[in-house]
Amino acid sequence: MSDFSKTYSQFKFQPEYEAVSHLIQNLGWDQHRSKRVKDKATRIVEALREQPVVSGSLESFAQKFGLNTEEGMALMCLAEALLRIPDAYTANALIQDKVLLADWVGKNDDGGDWIANFAGFGLAVTKKTLSGVLARLGGPIIRQAMKQAMRMLGEQFVVGETIGEALNRARIGGDSIGAGTACSFDMLGEGARTHRDAERYYEAYWQAIEFIGQDKGAHGISVKLSALYPRYEFAQKDQCVPALVSKMRELCRLASTYDMDLTIDAEEMDRLDLSLEIIEALSGDDALKGWNGLGLALQAYHKQAYHLIDSLYEMAKRDHRQLRIRLVKGAYWDTEIKRAQVESLKNYPVFTRKAYTDLSYLACAEKLLSYRDHIYPMFATHNAHTVAAILDLEHGDATGLGGAYEFQRLYGMGHGLYQVIEDFTHIRVRVYAPVGTHTDLLPYLVRRLLENGANSSFVYKLNDASVSVPSIVGDPIEKAKSFEGLSHPQIALPSDIYGSGRRNSRGMDFSSLEDMEALQDNVSQVFNEHYFEVSSFVAGVKVHGGRTRSVHNPARISDVIGEVRDCRGEDIERAFKMAEFGYRSWRYYSANERAKILRKFGDLLEENESLLIGLCVREAGKTLHDAHLEVREAVDFARYYAMMGEKDFCTQGMKLPGVTGEDNRLYFEGRGVFVCISPWNFPVAIFCGQVLAALMAAHLREIWPLTI
Ligand code: FAD
Ligand code: 2OP
Repeated sequence: MSDFSKTYSQFKFQPEYEAVSHLIQNLGWDQHRSKRVKDKATRIVEALREQPVVSGSLESFAQKFGLNTEEGMALMCLAEALLRIPDAYTANALIQDKVLLADWVGKNDDGGDWIANFAGFGLAVTKKTLSGVLARLGGPIIRQAMKQAMRMLGEQFVVGETIGEALNRARIGGDSIGAGTACSFDMLGEGARTHRDAERYYEAYWQAIEFIGQDKGAHGISVKLSALYPRYEFAQKDQCVPALVSKMRELCRLASTYDMDLTIDAEEMDRLDLSLEIIEALSGDDALKGWNGLGLALQAYHKQAYHLIDSLYEMAKRDHRQLRIRLVKGAYWDTEIKRAQVESLKNYPVFTRKAYTDLSYLACAEKLLSYRDHIYPMFATHNAHTVAAILDLEHGDATGLGGAYEFQRLYGMGHGLYQVIEDFTHIRVRVYAPVGTHTDLLPYLVRRLLENGANSSFVYKLNDASVSVPSIVGDPIEKAKSFEGLSHPQIALPSDIYGSGRRNSRGMDFSSLEDMEALQDNVSQVFNEHYFEVSSFVAGVKVHGGRTRSVHNPARISDVIGEVRDCRGEDIERAFKMAEFGYRSWRYYSANERAKILRKFGDLLEENESLLIGLCVREAGKTLHDAHLEVREAVDFARYYAMMGEKDFCTQGMKLPGVTGEDNRLYFEGRGVFVCISPWNFPVAIFCGQVLAALMAAHLREIWPLTI
């Protein structure tokens, strides 16, 4: 683990109240500032509300069909999938499924059908009429209409299909952009799946930098690292980091020859450490000395963000450069929450309340403003309160550095906001402008739909006339204080997502170098203690510098502990007899007692996880992550069957309806001996799962019904 990441990563899973109170203590925020900011934000919002909402825009759609409606959800599904479906049959099926779910016209109070008008087909597609429309006009027309609607929706966020077109649009201006506006062009494409894709995206970036550089405007470029390598993930660190450093070094060198800025976008949290390692290598690169265009996006919704700024500042100072930092709140919040739950991490790496993210954003902004001797802050937001707060913090900045910072907005969003603000004060605004075709747009589009459609987001509230101005510009710091640092009540910790009935199996952070080194050490240590009489085997798994070497002499564990190769008929009979004997005594345990034993078994699996992971790696050829998931599955089986068994086999039985007032109960009883055959590829999970289920079901009904 580098010293760089040590300084901030300790805060990754910090309890939320600690992180929040630290931010509250450090942010310079008093009643006067609160009032000034609220007043300014109020004026901005009032001015914005006087502007008409463009008909057919995403904002107008989001108002009618928010994400909490069936229509909003249906649109998300269509937008996410429709343009990627290659065959007509599946596309029709998706449209039918999603459109039938929704009531597009029913909620439309201005008489037009949004989707239909948008697509220019004038179709009245409703739950009731869809079948008729399909019959009359046929699938292809509907399909084209829908595809067209999705395309037009996407186009709101894309400045051009090619970089040439995009540069032209930025030069002459249009509905969403003023003539001559400075842009940071983003070549659409992310999450490359193959080296060929990665090569294509690299070429697009290269060509874009050449075009932008030759254009001689004040434009820059934004780059997503996940576009440039197909396995940009922690497990592939040793391959992907050097490969990405080398590719990025080339792109940065090209950008530096044009003295153009290049900002690395922030993506999912499990890529943060990797991206910082790459950025650190670029920052220290001798060939890039003297170029002050290197930048990165920083997501304020991370608990680490505030601390990370210090590390970045130290890095910039050490490397004698001016580092550009684009502060964003973060576009992957839902993904981070879901991932933490799926991986059962010990806490969330992001805040669970929006007010805490807002607080973090302002605290980070204040710190960035005070570090302007080595940092050029770029504040990316569409929220009027956040903008007003930054303007106020900037004027109150005691460093006397002044001037050097800018605001940024996304193409297709925030245009009105910054026009209104420019009426108030003179500020520098840059537009993040995606370039490309709809085939590469979808993940970006879905993030924008989430951003515009979430009822917690500023843009959504702004366009919702039922939300009052004071509640739109409410002070997030006051709000954060009123929550007392408590997490959102509906977002339970990952360990508690199954409620009080059962605990989630314990997870591990596979994107943490520290955790991975500890896991590898534990696995090799347990093997040393238990099985490493065979010296060649020991040599095979020794951990060097955080990397597991491949097994030089792959002796199997079964060579060490013995293996059953075949058995005779009488062995099987004996096994059945023993099981029958065991069953007779075991079924006298009550359901609660059996459940207790199962739970204990699950806990013991967790305690001995390193050994089991090692066995899965050796015996079933699993990766560490797959082996870990396998053990977790076994633990979940133990706790799940214990919970369900206590319910299904309770002494009182399951109460059924009694139509004439009689007491009807359903009882379950064990059926005897089970044969459990586990597949080779899930030696722990499926083996334990089926055995535990059979053990929990080996029930003897203790009390027969008294009335028959
Ligand atoms: P607001 O409505 O004030 O804030 C919305 C944000 O609050 C959400 O996006 C989320 O971050 C946060 N939030 C919402 N609910 C909760 C909750 N319950 N708990 C905690 N937090 C919550 N995003 C990236 O991730 N990486 C990038 O590289 C990136 N680049 C960008 C570049 C530009 C120029 C711009 C303008 C945006 C960029 N974004 C990026 C997207 C950015 O993260 C979103 O636009 C931003 O979060 C919206 O914030 P806001 O202040 O405009 O709106
Ligand atoms: C995103 O791709 C803008 O980088 C941000 O969502």
